[in-house]
Amino acid sequence: MKTYLVTGGAGFIGSNFVIYMLNKYSDVKIINVDKLTYAGNLENLKSVESNPNYVFVQADICDKEAIQSLFDQYDIDYVVNFAAESHVDRSITNPEIFVQTNVLGTVNLLNIAKNAWAVGDDQYKDGVKFMQVSTDEVYGSLGAEGFFMETTPLDPHSPYSSSKASADLFVKAYSDTYKLPVNITRCSNNYGPYQFPEKLIPLMINNTLQHKELPIYGDGMQIRDWLYVEDHCKAIDMVVRGGKLGEVYNVGGHNERPNIVIVKTILEYVKENVDPAVGEHMMKHVADRKGHDRRYGIDPEKIKRDLGWYPETTFEVGIKKTIQWYLNHKEWMENVTSGAYQEYYQRMYSNR
Ligand code: NAD
Ligand code: DAU
Repeated sequence: MKTYLVTGGAGFIGSNFVIYMLNKYSDVKIINVDKLTYAGNLENLKSVESNPNYVFVQADICDKEAIQSLFDQYDIDYVVNFAAESHVDRSITNPEIFVQTNVLGTVNLLNIAKNAWAVGDDQYKDGVKFMQVSTDEVYGSLGAEGFFMETTPLDPHSPYSSSKASADLFVKAYSDTYKLPVNITRCSNNYGPYQFPEKLIPLMINNTLQHKELPIYGDGMQIRDWLYVEDHCKAIDMVVRGGKLGEVYNVGGHNERPNIVIVKTILEYVKENVDPAVGEHMMKHVADRKGHDRRYGIDPEKIKRDLGWYPETTFEVGIKKTIQWYLNHKEWMENVTSGAYQEYYQRMYSNR
């Protein structure tokens, strides 16, 4: 039985990971620690909440006592650190919380894990690992050619990506200085069930279904490399189990698409299958994001070659599954878009 301390497991990718792991393995125990910020939602975890191998603890990863007590209470083998402030637009208006959670929270986890796992100088309990879930945004932005490799220099632009790059460097420092067993994954844009509708795909699905304007930043020709969330979960599982210690693995599916194409794909599907009244007239070009990265594109060859990972879900299949999921979970969307979300949306989009 391996025990995973999953942080941020009530968020989008974290909750998909918890569900993926508990469905796949009967011999894993998951301790999910989440602060339950606006992005954390226990509704996501309804299907596993009575699983005897699952425990939820509400706590902040920056809280030394709370995290220490989890290491005192459980025999933790792996930390999988998803917990983060994750939205670029929010980081542009309020960078401090990104430093707090993404940098200081990660350092707190590293420090407590290092001390809890130590069995001698630079020696750790057998088989333990700190897994940092990072992002391709740490590499900055690409021109028309080339891909991000694990060796691409870090060149983050937004406060979000700078905080994630800082966290990555601290993970590297704990590996280099204290020989802490670590891996870092850097994944491209995820989409799928339970994604908060501040992000492009769920926001556009929700607005389309609500007959609201579809706000496209700038010319909409920025390119992202989309990966279905379950394929990311599979990659993290494989890296935790088989990743060579100290290594970075890029995760992506060679699935680059301009934002405007994503929006048109959603419109087309909804028009054909749900509501003939929707259409491209709903798209509205609005002021661009400050410092907007133009293109992300991952070279996933290393994780394919070394661990045999490959994405199973094509974009064509994944986007349909995703739209259908939101159609089948209208109540989930209503719940997350009531209250504070309305104020956020107004603030972000009303004068854009
Ligand atoms: P999310 O915003 O949906 O979820 C973040 C979760 O972390 C929430 O449940 C929130 O409550 C929790 N959290 C925030 N601050 C916390 C704190 N101080 N202590 C404990 N919990 C806290 O994010 P996501 O999209 O699921 O991303 C998860 C991770 O994956 C992040 O580290 C992100 O940088 C990384 N990532 C995301 C993507 C993507 O496309 N979404 C791609 C690559 C990497
Ligand atoms: O690349 C991985 C990253 O992907 C993760 O590390 C981040 O946590 C995640 O939020 C995501 O960052 P992006 O900034 O790429 O995702 P977002 O969904 O916010 O935006 C995707 C693209 O769509 C981006 O070019 C901005 C654009 N956009 C976004 C929104 C919300 C719009 O044009 N209109 C919008 O309303």
